[in-house]
Amino acid sequence: MVQNENVGVAVITGGASGIGEACARELSARGVPVVITDINPRGKDIADSIGGYFYMLDVTEDENVNTCAASIESDLGPVKHLVNCAGVLQQPLAPEILPMEIWDNVVNVDQRGTYLSSVAFAKYMIEREEGSITNIASITANRSVPLHSYAPAKAAVVAITECLAAEWGPRGIRVNAVSPGHTLTPALESAINAGKRDPTLLIQNALGRMVKADEIAKAVAFLISDDAAAITGINLPVDCGWLVSTSWTTYGGLRKSND
Ligand SMILES: NC(=O)c1ccc[n+]([C@@H]2O[C@H](COP(=O)([O-])OP(=O)(O)OC[C@H]3O[C@@H](n4cnc5c(N)ncnc54)[C@H](O)[C@@H]3O)[C@@H](O)[C@H]2O)c1
Repeated sequence: MVQNENVGVAVITGGASGIGEACARELSARGVPVVITDINPRGKDIADSIGGYFYMLDVTEDENVNTCAASIESDLGPVKHLVNCAGVLQQPLAPEILPMEIWDNVVNVDQRGTYLSSVAFAKYMIEREEGSITNIASITANRSVPLHSYAPAKAAVVAITECLAAEWGPRGIRVNAVSPGHTLTPALESAINAGKRDPTLLIQNALGRMVKADEIAKAVAFLISDDAAAITGINLPVDCGWLVSTSWTTYGGLRKSND
């Protein structure tokens, strides 16, 4: 059992890299006992560096998810917060050439994995009538983009968030989503390096820069805190103003500061 039991354990799926790693570091710095889960064993090094815990977990495997939730509950004590960060990005391909294996994998990890993990950990939260779940969605859930598997899967994550917030609100569980804009994580960096994303286009937003992973983590930390006790079912964009800027292209784009 963890020492700081009254704070409650936070489990982060996909915590071995990028936004999940940033969430693990941010929550740990705020005194929350953190459990990193991932298919990448690098999560163990990160957990060790912040005095946290690591469990191998593939969010697409039903049995793995359920036994992992049971093990964490019995090894470390009550899980109060779940942050669903595990996810895979997608190359922008035309539907005619997008292999269905890629489509299925994105849906399996990003959409089904979020739902499966939520249900597995919520079972215990429901018994205690206390808990929070925060799902990492994406701004692509809210706009038409050429990511024909990823964007619908992330829209489903927003819908799952809303459905579960209504379902489990009466059981004391808050469920929210955070929608990152383009965030320079290892996943996006490798897409840029492979020529699959143009970095100059990625900063076309109101603030003119990419989001930092720790800025997503701070939003997650707020949503799981008591400061957000009345907030459930929302989708909070952290996007440097991408959602409010994209429609300006029709009018010639955002004004330059000297226009
Ligand atoms: N980087 C961005 O610009 C951006 C923007 C919007 C949303 N997101 C979302 O944020 C989340 C994190 O992305 P990131 O950019 O930090 O990527 P990342 O690749 O750096 O981290 C994702 C982590 O998820 C893990 N993972 C992948 N498949 C898994 C599985 N089946 N089971 C368990 N873990 C698995 C990976 O091993 C990795 O550690 C994803 O859901 C992604 O869709 C990212």
